[in-house]
Amino acid sequence: MSTPTIAINAPAHVHHTRLLAWVQDMANLTQAAHVHWCDGSQAEYDLLCEQMVASGTMKRLNPSKRPNSFLACSDPSDVARVEDRTFICSDKKEDAGPTNNWMEPADMRATLNPLFAGSMVGRTLYVVPFSMGPLGSPIAHIGVELSDSAYVAVNMRLMTRMGTAVLDVLGDDGAFVPCMHTVGAPLAAGQTDVPWPCNPTTKYIVHFPKTREIWSYGSGYGGNALLGKKCFALRIASTMGQAQGWLAEHMLILGVTNPQGKKYHVAAAFPSACGKTNFAMLIPPTGFEGWKVTTIGDDIAWIKPDEQGRLRAINPEAGYFGVAPGTNMQTNPNCMKSLDRDAIFTNVALTDDGDVWWEGMGPAPAHAIDWQGRDWTPAVAAETGAKAAHPNARFTVAATNNPALDEAWDDPQGVAIDAFIFGGRRSTTVPLVTEARNWTEGVYMAATMGSETTAAAFGAQGVVRRDPFAMLPFAGYNMSDYFQHWLNMGERLSNTGATLPKIFTTNWFRKGEDGKFVWPGFGENMRVLKWMIDRIEGNGNGVEHMAGVTPTYADLHWDGLDFSAAQFDAVTSIDSQSWRDELALHQELFDKLSHNLPPALVDTKASWSAKL
Ligand code: OXD
Ligand code: MN
Repeated sequence: MSTPTIAINAPAHVHHTRLLAWVQDMANLTQAAHVHWCDGSQAEYDLLCEQMVASGTMKRLNPSKRPNSFLACSDPSDVARVEDRTFICSDKKEDAGPTNNWMEPADMRATLNPLFAGSMVGRTLYVVPFSMGPLGSPIAHIGVELSDSAYVAVNMRLMTRMGTAVLDVLGDDGAFVPCMHTVGAPLAAGQTDVPWPCNPTTKYIVHFPKTREIWSYGSGYGGNALLGKKCFALRIASTMGQAQGWLAEHMLILGVTNPQGKKYHVAAAFPSACGKTNFAMLIPPTGFEGWKVTTIGDDIAWIKPDEQGRLRAINPEAGYFGVAPGTNMQTNPNCMKSLDRDAIFTNVALTDDGDVWWEGMGPAPAHAIDWQGRDWTPAVAAETGAKAAHPNARFTVAATNNPALDEAWDDPQGVAIDAFIFGGRRSTTVPLVTEARNWTEGVYMAATMGSETTAAAFGAQGVVRRDPFAMLPFAGYNMSDYFQHWLNMGERLSNTGATLPKIFTTNWFRKGEDGKFVWPGFGENMRVLKWMIDRIEGNGNGVEHMAGVTPTYADLHWDGLDFSAAQFDAVTSIDSQSWRDELALHQELFDKLSHNLPPALVDTKASWSAKL
């Protein structure tokens, strides 16, 4: 049956034949009621927000408390990324690997096509052109998201460089990643809309690496719907990096400047909800006068070698989509200041004076409306355990709101990386910090990283899952091939004579016998960062153990912190039996990843075992 042709209203300056043809095909497929090309202007953002306030999707917060800020509350079925509904549809199953869901591409297309057919009836299709990375940067790439969610359009404006300027860079024939998104809730004539349309029963987050396409159905939330983030900047980009010789990583990027004015850049991978944003915005503590930490990115890094073989990194994003609960003036003052204005909050609580609140923000209000629209009081919470904010509640804010934004954050050339950090969340076994003795050992440490599960990932809380490179839900291809790609990059760069970044692992989360975290965390992580810089400069000491090099108590700078040698021992000691158990778990991971597992990693494991 043929469907009516939809008018796509392309702006007169758009002559990109493939883009126009794709938008036309998708408008016809989805039968959108109207097509709107986003120009990315403030006026457009304001108008879309006003429309969402009128339709009940968002509430404007009290302008005297939080100017130009909004609260959206999602459907209770649509609160997090859906890893079990996320697919990598490579031609061969082994190219997706055992850590990804896979379906044969033709079968997936046959599944998706009827779902997308007519999916935007009664809705506007927003054409959202976006650049991941500074406009025109040699490290950046462009995507175009088609979405029937105005919430997606405004969030994409905060999270990416979005709008007409991107179409200008794309020109008449530039490459772009097509990102197709629908909430999967067509509106029949006369049907009233709900505040958060989504499909409560059917969700698909699908990637076709060969054709570099993304198709997302049924969810309006975060990484499921803001397709520039996890879907493009990690899953599709990791496959582009494999083919083209670069790295797309789940890493923050920070700059650290010492009192002499020398600046270093560090890229750090932590699994979801391990304080990545806090680390990216760290304020040096007492005892570190004259030191400065600045943020380039808080979640994703794209890293390409320059002509001298140095790895240069950009943050492909232009905003932060962070977890709100637990964020406060102690854990992350820079983040709190970023949220003073121009922010979108999702699934936090609304206070009686029109502001927002979440668990761990500070003193609880006497009354609030929780994220599901119900009355909430501390007494109700004490009795029933009801949370005012969903544990995976989020804020969206432009990077330019961050008082600690690095001056090079938008530099098209990126920044040169001096060190990589891989940090898991482990209550036992793994020391506070360990330096790898060489690139291969660093890749081994990253590959075997483990972490306790969080709200963003489905499954039991607090169970350790192996999360290689913090990329478990984000690698767009076979994890063992991804390890090999890292090893190859190291070999290729060292063959050019370039100095490779040092590789470290950290674990801020070791617990004492009382079950409490021993390391004070937050700004004190600066002490570990300084030790890494000492090591980069060749003047830091440490002791070698089976798994690398760790500082002794005397090797860290303790001014301004009362932390005893015994406490330090509690976060750095190596327990042989725990490590024997740990290596047995590494073996389980390797058994799972045996297809194409690099022999160099098997050798590293053997050399660690031999030292126990
Ligand atoms: C995120 C995540 O939202 O890693 O950044 O889940
Ligand atoms: Mn993340």
